[in-house]
Amino acid sequence: MTDLIESLHAPTADEGTGSVTLGMPVSRVDGRAKVTGEARYAAEHPAEGLDRELAYGVIVNSTIAKGRILSMHIEAALAVPGVMDILTHENHPKTRSLGVFYKDMTSPGGSPFKPLHDANIRYSGQPIALVVAQTFEAARYAASLVIVDYDIEPHETDLMAHLDRAHKPSRLKAGYSPPPGEKGDAEMAFARAPVSIDAEYYSGVEHHNPMEMFASTVLRDDEGHYLIYDKTQSSQNSRWYVSRIFGLSKHKVTVRNPYVGGAFGSGLRPQYQLILAMMAAIHLERSVRVVMTRQQMFTFGHRPETFQRVKLAAERDGTLRAIVHTALAETSRFEDYVEVVVNWSGQLYTCDNIKLGYEIVSLDQFSPIDMRAPGAAHGVHALEVAMDELAHALQMDPLALRLKNYAERNPMDDMPYSTKELAACYHQGAERFGWASRSLEPRSMRDGHELVGWGMATGTWDAMQMFARASAVLYADGRLLVSSAATDIGTGTYTVMGMIAAAAMGLPLEQVTFQLGDSTLPVAPIEGGSSHVTTVGSAVQGACEKLQRRLFRMARALPHSPVAEAPFEQIEFVEGRLRLKQSPEKGIALSVLMSANGIDRVEEKYLLLPSLFKQRKYVRATHSAVFCEVKVDEALGTVRVTRVVSAIAAGRILSAKTAHSQVTGAVVWGISQALHEETHSDHRLGRFMNHNLAEYHVAVNADIHDIDVIFVHEDDRVVSELGAKGVGEIGIVGVAAAVSNAIFHATGRRIRSTPMTPDKVMAP
Ligand code: MOS
Repeated sequence: MTDLIESLHAPTADEGTGSVTLGMPVSRVDGRAKVTGEARYAAEHPAEGLDRELAYGVIVNSTIAKGRILSMHIEAALAVPGVMDILTHENHPKTRSLGVFYKDMTSPGGSPFKPLHDANIRYSGQPIALVVAQTFEAARYAASLVIVDYDIEPHETDLMAHLDRAHKPSRLKAGYSPPPGEKGDAEMAFARAPVSIDAEYYSGVEHHNPMEMFASTVLRDDEGHYLIYDKTQSSQNSRWYVSRIFGLSKHKVTVRNPYVGGAFGSGLRPQYQLILAMMAAIHLERSVRVVMTRQQMFTFGHRPETFQRVKLAAERDGTLRAIVHTALAETSRFEDYVEVVVNWSGQLYTCDNIKLGYEIVSLDQFSPIDMRAPGAAHGVHALEVAMDELAHALQMDPLALRLKNYAERNPMDDMPYSTKELAACYHQGAERFGWASRSLEPRSMRDGHELVGWGMATGTWDAMQMFARASAVLYADGRLLVSSAATDIGTGTYTVMGMIAAAAMGLPLEQVTFQLGDSTLPVAPIEGGSSHVTTVGSAVQGACEKLQRRLFRMARALPHSPVAEAPFEQIEFVEGRLRLKQSPEKGIALSVLMSANGIDRVEEKYLLLPSLFKQRKYVRATHSAVFCEVKVDEALGTVRVTRVVSAIAAGRILSAKTAHSQVTGAVVWGISQALHEETHSDHRLGRFMNHNLAEYHVAVNADIHDIDVIFVHEDDRVVSELGAKGVGEIGIVGVAAAVSNAIFHATGRRIRSTPMTPDKVMAP
């Protein structure tokens, strides 16, 4: 006991001193595993230790967009050595509940597509067969031998040719907000104002193209339990979906996604390879892996083709009088995919007359799916290009126009913002960029043979919090294990959650493990909407606070306790010790505390529920100001984005380095959206034609120059207990608009569609 009492007053030497504070830059904790190949992705998990070897499934897709399968000739494929079976709509195993419970947690309204359900073809690229073989090569070769006779029906895949069929979404998705009703009389105000612009904007289909293909490795054991490594943004969503479709109890299915090689929204829904792999595993009673090819990555959701019209009107001094923003977007025949495209236009600028509209057109294509900042990436783009057009019509600086109409309360409904440091974004971003020395006139800046343009835009995205559970276990040797069924799609979840726990418990990051990516862990939401830090992070914080209180109670109960008289509020956890804030020498090492109590682990669990009552009184959003410089070679139509400054207000930044990387990556994608990305259809075939990375262009290293990210100070205790708002998506919003506006400033040419390819830049 003497030893114990002595140790109460001084930290022991072996506790480590690598303390973590929130907001510091930390390299991602999973970085080493990723660069060494130790991190396994969905298609890389071996079937080790299982009785049955892995079989490989290769998917056959339809070549027509609409019609019926008359007959499938699979004899030649079946004859390939090693081929075990071919699943089609005619022979796929009958499984309980199949066809009834196809909705996952993120389905849009409607009737989800069911692979191999019947002979009907609903879109080009629809999966119609799965060839299963002992080797991938045999399956792939056999798949090429499957011949299909179709009864072809006429299809409609061209949004612009079918705008007349636009309708209000009838089957809405939970959590979606349709455009609010009109404020004031926007058309009348538009007609009366002295200065106005009226413009149409078009953005084509885009695909996510994460590096990792969609894949599912289904490992079946002899008791009929399925362990599935799936590429998904939620192991629990995939687990729930598989359980429902195949009528398997929760205990028969475990889904893991410890590493995900990018997803950007494409993994919000389970994709069809998961169902096909499970069908084969059930049918053949063995382990099966199915991996999509890059071409097949273009056969499910995408960012929807969207056509927008924005009308803005103002007084001569720049005071906005009217905002009218309407959008028409595509969806499939079977689901009403919806996203918030126009609502942002009622959230950014003070205006008495605002009218917003959003409709969809059902086409013979697969349903779109959320893609990084869905709706905002192109909705705010249209508004922000329109604002630049208005500034030009007013002969006014584009930043001055935004500041003139700056909203201190939400324009649409006069609600307060939880926090909104957008003004600081404008000022700090402009300062860093050197915006003040911009010339007003287009075509007024040159660098050698290139025209130089400076453009800017505003960005905004929701700041959301969902519900989650987390557990935290502290071991006597000082290790802390924190768990939640969260996902890390490359965003840095492992890192930031580890930091939150380490900072709370005063432990070095090396002693903290955050466990995610397993459906058996405490409930976590789908990784989406930039909400993992606000949600799972707050749950981790909550679990750690419960641990703190428990340890504190234990410490107080010790004989001669140095903290006997102190309330919890005067206690801090630093360097592996619990101690008094005022007299840091009075405290006790956590390891000592636990051994004094004769325990080797302490565990706490926490359920984070958002305080909806408080949150609903505020508009909760992140904001950004993006400034960029382009250099345009008019002879070639080429655009180089030579400088970008992105100033972000996204609440408290907890993990400075991974947050910075998120925004940098999003700016890269914004440049890519602006200049490169579009999936082209041949509407005669109703099919995406550039379905590969050779012809679907994305920004490459040579396209990216200087990107400077600023985080403006914000601390938002309405959105989350940690003050954070989330940074996954805000970084892309407004970037393409800033590029578009810079191209106008450089050339005097207004390009109202993305991507702004050389043909458009050169057009007379
Ligand atoms: Mo994101 S598009 O919410 O995965």
